[in-house]
Amino acid sequence: MSQEDERSAAQPLRERLRRSLAQTGSRRLAQRVVGRETPARRAERPESPSPSGYHEIKSALFTRLLEELGEQTAGSEEQIRETVRAFVDRVLDEGVALNERERTRLSEDLTDEVVGLGPLAPLMADPAVTDILVNGPTQVYIERFGSLEPTDVRFRDDDHIRRVIERIAARVGRRIDLASPLLDARLPDGSRVNATLPPISIDGPTLSIRRFGHRRLTQDDLLSLREFSPEMLVYLDLAVRLKKNVLISGGTGAGKSTLLGALAESIPASERVVTIEDAAELILDQPHVVRLETRPANIEGQGVVRQRELVINSLRMRPDRIIVGEVRGGEALDMLQAMNTGHEGSLSTIHANGPRDALSRLETMVLMSGLELPSRAIREQVVGAIQVLVHVRRYEDGVRRVASVSEIVGLEGDAILTNDIFVFKRSAGSGRRVGGDFQATGVVPRLADDLRERGEPVPVEIFRAPPGAPGRA
Ligand SMILES: Nc1ncnc2c1ncn2[C@@H]1O[C@H](COP(=O)(O)OP(=O)(O)OP(=O)(O)O)[C@@H](O)[C@H]1O
Ligand SMILES: [Mg+2]
Repeated sequence: MSQEDERSAAQPLRERLRRSLAQTGSRRLAQRVVGRETPARRAERPESPSPSGYHEIKSALFTRLLEELGEQTAGSEEQIRETVRAFVDRVLDEGVALNERERTRLSEDLTDEVVGLGPLAPLMADPAVTDILVNGPTQVYIERFGSLEPTDVRFRDDDHIRRVIERIAARVGRRIDLASPLLDARLPDGSRVNATLPPISIDGPTLSIRRFGHRRLTQDDLLSLREFSPEMLVYLDLAVRLKKNVLISGGTGAGKSTLLGALAESIPASERVVTIEDAAELILDQPHVVRLETRPANIEGQGVVRQRELVINSLRMRPDRIIVGEVRGGEALDMLQAMNTGHEGSLSTIHANGPRDALSRLETMVLMSGLELPSRAIREQVVGAIQVLVHVRRYEDGVRRVASVSEIVGLEGDAILTNDIFVFKRSAGSGRRVGGDFQATGVVPRLADDLRERGEPVPVEIFRAPPGAPGRA
């Protein structure tokens, strides 16, 4: 068959798939799946396309699959497997543009997802859902567009939840039982899962899923979500490009990792990036990225690989940049040392209630390394290592905002001195919405010196405090 013939023969099938995808509201995806693809192009396509492409295709098919399955997700596991297999065969015959390896993977992934997650499957199919929280059989919450809402998803009983948890664990080669009642794992689509069993969780098994894997929020997205101002972005982009070490602090779910991923966009494509995470969730666009992930101990208590070892190892991998997803413990010392010895331009996050708290927690973590350093020595390390502190916060209205961007300027006596460059200044809001705006403090950051040295223009206007602001020079 000539390429022309092949193309026209495939046409009606594509048309059908396009229509069926369009019905599920995924027009953009329909285009992507069937619109521009020709058999010739498919043959040319590399073996592993961008993960987001595959995920998008999968998530659209998943939506359609769930619609076809309807109430059947409550059927026996074997029945569901059969139905899913038949669906996948049928849809792939309609001409979805995937290479052979992806086809097999798709079929397995979809089966796993429907069978594996039981009643949660429909929630997983909704790309707007960012968190799924199961507190008990009749208490399933989701977070959508920044706010938490109850759902009418139900499990039969505690045992039903436990079985789903065990399946998730089994799929990643782990076990959760009385002996080890806590589980941290990652689903095949990248979503992060935490599960607990009684008696650790007193009222029954719980499950918390941080959805992930479709698309990361970009700098532009965060700008239009008003997480920060354009001026702040200009500054942060410069800081990352000029290889300042940046630490992002914030509470649980404040958006630290998301902001980290967005700031990493500013890393030039020519640099080699090594990422270190407890559960890999960062998606970077750079071509030259090596991703490392910690490993928990096996049943015999062996084989554990901690962030600390990974940080040390990463130094031998000739990194231009090291990204530690979140510092939590003793690796803080190794990270600070790396930053102090020429590994500049590193990015990391830390759980803290404010920039001050971030610094003191960092100090505590250094002590967790087991090395008994006097606190002045630790502070010297911190001051030498970190140049920029960004604090992000989820406000009462559900909106995540950068509350402050500060520079670390030095030590005075025993105290670390910081200068706020930008802050979110609150004012009276209207209704539920928190009022206020992002303001420069009038302090010209040290970054300006770097720019001058390089002969680059300093965007002085973005650092000017608004008229009437307190502290305006
Ligand atoms: N500006 C934003 N607007 C809307 N949703 C956001 C924004 N930033 C992050 N999110 C979403 O909020 C959730 C939490 O974000 P993220 O994982 O970045 O937080 P975190 O502070 O790293 O959380 P954790 O403490 O669990 O590590 C994610 O689902 C993310 O997609
Ligand atoms: Mg995080």
